[in-house]
Amino acid sequence: MKQNILVIGQGGREHAIAWKISKSPKVQKVFVCPGNAGTALEKDIENIDINISDINSLINFVKTNNVILTIVGPEVPLVEGIVNKFFEHNLKIFGPTKEHSLLEGSKVFSKEFMINYDIPTAEYQMFSNQDQAKAYVANKKHPIVIKADGLAAGKGVIVSSSVEESISAIDKLLNPDYSEFIVIEEFLSGQELSAIYICNYKGCSFEIGLPWTKDYKSRDEYNSGPNTGGMGAVSHPLSYEHKNEVYKLYLDIEKILVKTINGINDYNKKTNVKYLGFLYIGLMVDSTNKVKVLEYNCRMGDPETQNLMLSLENQNFDFLEMIFNDPTIKIQDLNIENFNHNNRGYCCTIVLAAKGYPEEYKKGFYIDTNNVEESKTVKLFHAGTVLDDNRICTTGGRILTINVYAENQKEAVNLAYKNIKKIKIFEDKDMKIENNNLVFFREDIGN
Ligand code: AMP
Ligand code: GLY
Repeated sequence: MKQNILVIGQGGREHAIAWKISKSPKVQKVFVCPGNAGTALEKDIENIDINISDINSLINFVKTNNVILTIVGPEVPLVEGIVNKFFEHNLKIFGPTKEHSLLEGSKVFSKEFMINYDIPTAEYQMFSNQDQAKAYVANKKHPIVIKADGLAAGKGVIVSSSVEESISAIDKLLNPDYSEFIVIEEFLSGQELSAIYICNYKGCSFEIGLPWTKDYKSRDEYNSGPNTGGMGAVSHPLSYEHKNEVYKLYLDIEKILVKTINGINDYNKKTNVKYLGFLYIGLMVDSTNKVKVLEYNCRMGDPETQNLMLSLENQNFDFLEMIFNDPTIKIQDLNIENFNHNNRGYCCTIVLAAKGYPEEYKKGFYIDTNNVEESKTVKLFHAGTVLDDNRICTTGGRILTINVYAENQKEAVNLAYKNIKKIKIFEDKDMKIENNNLVFFREDIGN
C-alpha cells in the first residue's frame, strides 16, 4: 500500500527532500510543514499549516493522515527534542534525539567531544569572559576563527583577519544577548567538503555516505564577505581525482564517521537510543589530503541537499529506500559506488538571494520563473518564498536555487548560470515594475 510522508521545514532543503521522496514508487503523498511556494506548486506535495513548534498538533496530524514517516529538515526542532516527543508516541521519525543533536547545538560540546573521542579538528580555546578572550586574540596569529556556542543559522562564525576584527567579533558574539560562550580556533586552509550520511534504521555501521559536495559559505566571490547559510553547492571536485586518492580520503573520513557515531552513542548510552537521522560532517582537506572536522550538523545541508537530490534522481537512486535501508540495496558510500560504476555526472546549485543577505534585506517582492524550462536535469528548489494569489512572493534572504545536472562540470555550470539569468524580479504584485537589483547571486560557483 502506498503511504504518506511528512517533511518538516520550509527551506530549499525541504523542497528538495520532499520532491525526491515524492518520486518514490512507494509514496502516495508528501506533506510539508509549512513548506514554501515551490512545494505548493508540486503536484504530489501538499503544504500543511501547523506551527512546527506545536509538536502535539504535528503528532495528531501524523496519526490521522496515514503518515508512516516524518523527516525533519532543520536543526532547531531537533535540538528542541521533536524526535524524543515522537518516540514517546511510538511514531517513526527520521532525525537524532535532542541529546544526540548536541553535536550541532553546541560548538563547545562538539569541540570537547572531538578531543575526547580523538577526532581531528582545529585547535581551540573556549571563553565565557570578554576580557580573557580579547587578551588571547591579541597574541594570536591571524586569521583566526571565532564561533558562538549555540545555533546561529550559519551566522555565528566569524573568520577574522586582524586583532581589531577579532575584538569586534568577540563584542558581537560573546554577550548575554548572543552567546554565553565562544570558541576561538585555529584557521584551517584547504578545500572544504560536506560529507553527509544517512544513519538509518539498520543501526551503526550501516550508514550510507552520500556523494561529497562543496558548499560556498561566504556571501561574495572567492571566499570574501560574511559567512552565510550557503550561496551554492557543487559535486565535490576531489571526487574527480585519482581513484587511490579518493579511496584514501574515503577511508580517513570513514574513520571520523565511525569514531563520531560510536562516540555520540557512547556519550548517550544512558538514553538507550542510537544516533538516527542525517549526519553532516563539515571537513577541511588540506594540500596534503589530511582531513579535519570543521563542524557537525545533525541534519542535511542547505544548499547541499538541493544539489544531492537532483544528482540522486539522475543516478536513479531511491532516497526513501536509503533512509529505510532496504535490504536489497547494498550501497555503503556513493563516492566509491559511483567510482566503480563510472556513474559520475556533475551537479551545480546556485542560490538566488535578496540583496543585503545575510544582513538586512527586503522581502515581499515577486519572482517570475516561467522562462526557466525545468526538466529531469534542470530544477528549481524554492526557499524563502510563499504563494500570493498564485504569484511567487519572497519571504526570506535565500529565495531559491537553480540546480543543473549534466555530464560534466562545464556544461552544468554554464547551464545553471544561463537559467538563473532568466528569472525575472518585480517590485510589485502586478509584475509591472521589473527590478533585478533586488537580488544577487555569486558568479564563481563551480569555478
Ligand atoms: P562552522 O559553522 O563551524 O562550520 O563554520 C562555518 C564556516 O566557517 C565553515 O564552513 C568554514 O567555511 C568556516 N570555518 C569554520 N571553522 C573554520 C576554521 N577552523 N578554519 C577555516 N574556516 C573555518
Ligand atoms: N550549507 C551549510 C549548512 O547547511 O550548514
